[in-house]
Amino acid sequence: MIGRSFVVAIDGPAASGKGTLARRLAQKLNLAHLDTGKIYRAVALKVIEAGASADDTVVATKAAKQLIPKDLDNPALVTDAVASMASKVAALPEVRRQLIDFQRNFSKTPPKGYCGAILDGRDIGTVICPEAHVKLYVTATAEVRAARRHKELLGRGLPSIYAQVLEDIKARDHRDAHRAAAPLAVASDAFLLDTTELDADAAFAVALAYIMAQPGLSSDLSEDISPKAEPSRD
Ligand code: DC
Repeated sequence: MIGRSFVVAIDGPAASGKGTLARRLAQKLNLAHLDTGKIYRAVALKVIEAGASADDTVVATKAAKQLIPKDLDNPALVTDAVASMASKVAALPEVRRQLIDFQRNFSKTPPKGYCGAILDGRDIGTVICPEAHVKLYVTATAEVRAARRHKELLGRGLPSIYAQVLEDIKARDHRDAHRAAAPLAVASDAFLLDTTELDADAAFAVALAYIMAQPGLSSDLSEDISPKAEPSRD
């Protein structure tokens, strides 16, 4: 527990299904959800719009400093070009430093009406919320993740070539896992959820069962976060 807020940290590589899982768990357990990838994407979009390069620390740091919650709702954040730039600006230590408080404040003081928060990203269990009540690390093979991403892009009517998507995912995995600042890593106390052979429903069921089985949860928190009837899937 962090303060009075129940915190779930979900980390994992690109297109591992952690975002969908986080949204569904948040809804089920009445937790506020923060997709921290959107924060880095929003900074990346500002860098792109400024015509700056990925290693322009001054422009990227200014963008991180000026970030406001509304920036996270920009539909332009979903493109692979923005994702790729996000992975690059996310390697800048000063950018990451600027974004720590926003994420920690969200976890400690979720919006009114929620009894906790669920954050998904790359360094939530390791750096942002090392004291999270529950930590999940969601992963799948690069090929399966690329196939899911490819299908999603086509489903949205966007052009996509599987081989290109796979290459992008592998490049992003490498950058995210090998940077010096808060690299993608499995927290030592995280529950590893490999979704290579699991669909979204199965992954959700495993994660929910794991959370509800946490010692201490039933006594002091289950009344607050007892699962609600599940709404239709996203
Ligand atoms: O989760 P995503 O694909 O939207 O994230 C985009 C990029 O942002 C990702 O490649 C690395 C970076 N990121 C990060 O460094 N730390 C986080 N907590 C979340 C995302």
